[in-house]
Amino acid sequence: MTQWWRDAVVYQIYPRSFADGNGDGTGDFAGALARLPYLAELGVDAVWFSPFYPSPLADGGYDVADYCDVDPRFGTLADFDAFLAAAAGHGIRVIVDIVPNHCSTAHPAFQAALAAGPGSPERELFIFRDAPNNWQSIFGGPAWTQTPDGQWYLHLFDSSQPDWNWANPAVPAMFEKVLRFWLDRGVAGLRVDVAHGLFKDPELPDVPDPTPSDRPSPWFHRPELVAHYATWRAILDSYPADVFPGSRTAVGEFWGDEIIHLEPYFVPGGMPQAFNFFLFQSAWDAAALRQTITASITLAEGSDVVAPWVISNHDVMRPVSRYGAPAPARSDADVDVALGTRRARAAALLLLALPGSAYVYQGEELGLPEFLDIPAADRDDPVFHRTGGARLGRDGCRVPLPWSGTAQPYGFGEGPAAWLPQPDGWAELTVEAQLADPASTLELYRAAIAARPGGEFAWLAGYDLAFTRGDGFACLVNLGREAVPLPVHASVLLASGTIAGGVLPQDTAVWLRLS
Ligand code: GLC
Repeated sequence: MTQWWRDAVVYQIYPRSFADGNGDGTGDFAGALARLPYLAELGVDAVWFSPFYPSPLADGGYDVADYCDVDPRFGTLADFDAFLAAAAGHGIRVIVDIVPNHCSTAHPAFQAALAAGPGSPERELFIFRDAPNNWQSIFGGPAWTQTPDGQWYLHLFDSSQPDWNWANPAVPAMFEKVLRFWLDRGVAGLRVDVAHGLFKDPELPDVPDPTPSDRPSPWFHRPELVAHYATWRAILDSYPADVFPGSRTAVGEFWGDEIIHLEPYFVPGGMPQAFNFFLFQSAWDAAALRQTITASITLAEGSDVVAPWVISNHDVMRPVSRYGAPAPARSDADVDVALGTRRARAAALLLLALPGSAYVYQGEELGLPEFLDIPAADRDDPVFHRTGGARLGRDGCRVPLPWSGTAQPYGFGEGPAAWLPQPDGWAELTVEAQLADPASTLELYRAAIAARPGGEFAWLAGYDLAFTRGDGFACLVNLGREAVPLPVHASVLLASGTIAGGVLPQDTAVWLRLS
């Protein structure tokens, strides 16, 4: 079976903020359906939907109350099916987000556990103890919350997100049904949330340094994971290619502090894909990027697991603001948007020229900056609230997309306002405005996706960050302080900025046909 996902371009939809079809200020399947032609013209192979399941939305839907349904705010299962069928008509596959580390406190199994009390089999589905240990939540504050009967439950994230007990065989059995529910419906793949979580050290030991990190720990990167994901791969591979040509896939959200932390997952028969977050964790520095790219390619060698490239998603600061500020920005005033935009456009050509699959997060193709100045009262992310604002959280990259017009909600929906405010001054960033401008970031993404190179990757000698693909294609990125002369070439295929006089300006990338 073909492994279409090996070099696919996948577009991430954050459903609340993509397109609002019913005018209630929240994105939904009706809105997404109406925008399918946009995605088809962008040229993506698949879309990944962040969670749309019934949820209190305490963590934007990553607090799941029912894994096998659609929250009424996003539509119905019939709307999901309609999207799937229409997407197939455009040759676009659909990937859904599976959240196996935790659910919502509103999930019936957790409600039953609370009601059943200490020592009950219902509590064995979660991690209840009579006393907490010193683990800290990744979102800030302690990782334990006390229930009225005195017991405590573990939540690596928000207190509304209790961790499942993966040592209890009922939990993997339940998730197998969830996987099959969506695979039977015809999805092409799964994105697996917090894939390095799930299993915990059964001793739940105190740790010397409880500061959250992504290194191996009693809660992350446990040895049980590798065998566990082999069982999921077997499920994926047992599905015939009846919806689309090719095998079903899964892509794990594996965070690591260092690339070596991901090594255990790159084994034959492992989860087909493991996100490679090191590209966006890397500074805007040629040596750092080069080292990251080499290490990433080496990591996947010899395994049948691939590591898709990413420069943004719904959890991290948008590239324009990340590359446009000398230190992590706290306010819009900290960001040099022109500089950030130049660099983000160059990063896009890098992303789309590298070998393998690339994920594009909604709005990345529009060059949206992070909206850092969202008023505190409008902020939704539990990271902001759990840290008393010390961490701004992720709302700034989740602002509803600007589609058209010159004022809020910029064509996001028919309603007067979107669920999260958009900044003023986005009129030039709307899809409508960018489609009318051949030099826009949207047009750059469309052209790059259409012209992605194939073939062997090799570094091109004599440059800080340049490589060839196959015969005669080259990508060069200039992160230095001065313009660099271009190599001898037959033609310029694409450039992230203006090229003149045979040189590549600073913070610019170019795709060349060498001969
Ligand atoms: C993942 C998601 C993130 C979510 C967290 C808890 O990291 O990408 O958005 O908050 O898991 O589910």
